[in-house]
Amino acid sequence: MSWHATTTIYQIYPRSFYDSNGDGIGDIQGIIQKLDYIRDLGFETIWISPFYSSPQEDFGYDISDYYNIAPEYGTLQDVEQLIAEIHQRKMKVVFDMVMNHTSDKHPWFLESRASKDNPKADWYIWRDQPNNWKSIIGPNGWQFCAERNQYYYASFLPFQPDLNYRNPEVKKAMFDVCRFWLQKGVDGFRLDIFNCIIKEKDFKNNPFSLFHIIPSEEHPGGNFQIRKYSLNQEENFELAQELRSVMDEFNHPPRMLLGEVFGGHDKIKQYLGKKQDGLHLVFLFDILYYKFNPDFFRKKILEYEHHYPAPNIPTAVFSNHDQLRSIHRIGNHLEKAKLLALLQFTMRAVPCVYYGEEIGMTNGKISLKNGKDPMVNIYSWVPQFIADLLPVGINRDNCRTPMQWNNQKNAGFSVAEKTWLQVNKDVEKRNVDLQLTDKDSLLNVFKKLLHLRKNNQALHSGKIEIVHTGNKNILAFVRSFEEEKLLVLINFCNSKVTVNINLPIKEMVFSIGQKNGFNDVLKGFSGIIVKL
Ligand code: NOJ
Repeated sequence: MSWHATTTIYQIYPRSFYDSNGDGIGDIQGIIQKLDYIRDLGFETIWISPFYSSPQEDFGYDISDYYNIAPEYGTLQDVEQLIAEIHQRKMKVVFDMVMNHTSDKHPWFLESRASKDNPKADWYIWRDQPNNWKSIIGPNGWQFCAERNQYYYASFLPFQPDLNYRNPEVKKAMFDVCRFWLQKGVDGFRLDIFNCIIKEKDFKNNPFSLFHIIPSEEHPGGNFQIRKYSLNQEENFELAQELRSVMDEFNHPPRMLLGEVFGGHDKIKQYLGKKQDGLHLVFLFDILYYKFNPDFFRKKILEYEHHYPAPNIPTAVFSNHDQLRSIHRIGNHLEKAKLLALLQFTMRAVPCVYYGEEIGMTNGKISLKNGKDPMVNIYSWVPQFIADLLPVGINRDNCRTPMQWNNQKNAGFSVAEKTWLQVNKDVEKRNVDLQLTDKDSLLNVFKKLLHLRKNNQALHSGKIEIVHTGNKNILAFVRSFEEEKLLVLINFCNSKVTVNINLPIKEMVFSIGQKNGFNDVLKGFSGIIVKL
């Protein structure tokens, strides 16, 4: 099996991970200093959010030079060193690739916007009259440009103009960017909003829908519009295949593509290609909006198996840099978080973990008014008390607060007087140093699970089958690879339950909250893995 199918992914938001030079902003050398930590935890792949040159209006997701590094993060040499150091530790590294749009300060856009007949006039999506398309974050996606007396389209924020992939020069320019980094040894790319990348050629209006108010996985963007013609077009799936062949030019070692693509499974599975010749993986965001009950997860496992049967493989994502931290859904409860980790590392999926998730980092409390995230400009009209009630964060600063390494100054993240975002208040209770020394900590649960998964083919490459225990509080499934069979049992309720399973149990290989073996009884909020 190729490495992408069995790996485990740790996401770093570089601005918030570790500051090596005391300016209050995380950087590349900071990541290098913490690589042993990630390797020792047991992760096999590191995905790093963008650090290329950028005006930082969207903290790096607005790139102004794909071939250079923003000075606050370091230099090209630092990035080369980063790649080498990750490889020395036998891990893989995936860079974020924002192909859909550039910054409006990128020289390509500056040239394009200058006139209607310059060499890059057609590199972005220009129209004399806008149609009704809304961006995927809600408001109108068209922005007026006085120089051209025309509108350009931006799928996300107004300063992120979308490139025009119907122009072969654009495609070539961006594929060359990918080749540049592949030559430098990067193992793959995480593709930012790849589902937006090509738009319907005749710019047909999107359908109005009274029911699609709030954005959902199936219908991104909400705001009374189904993004029928601006998202997930057939040509996107073809572009995925073209990009895949660029990756395959660099096959020693093989590289991988991981797509950020929203939409229903019927659509997004098409990015993988009918013959596994598209993207290698797509983020599945359904369990990010989980309900803490076994039924929810049982249904998701079955749904994923239906849409992404082997040799495809789903992903298991609970958090990222755009969403409220997952642990808030369970009231920041560490014991419940351990059970979610057990599920995340044992279901048939590639687990993607967001920095800090391993210590149960909680959301920050930065108000909309004080937010640095450009999204707050769009939602500044929302009263704070409503924002606090929303299930989805509209100030993404709150999931981007500095990593909590210890309980010293700035949580050990930086020696600066002021960090770019303030450190969370609960650092004394939730930090890496504290949890490293507590053998039952969430961090140590992550560590044990990561090592167990690496050493058991059934867990990283096996089949999955749901087991019915007759008890509504229990999630049970078997992972199997040839003769190797592991049963996972998770008790989602706070009281002990008796589980009758007629399966021959050999030994318990892992447990949470269940010290003295398993005699058909599972304690409250406990979980185990047993060999069959
Ligand atoms: C999705 C990224 O995850 C998000 O952080 C970013 O703001 C937008 N795409 C625009 O690039």
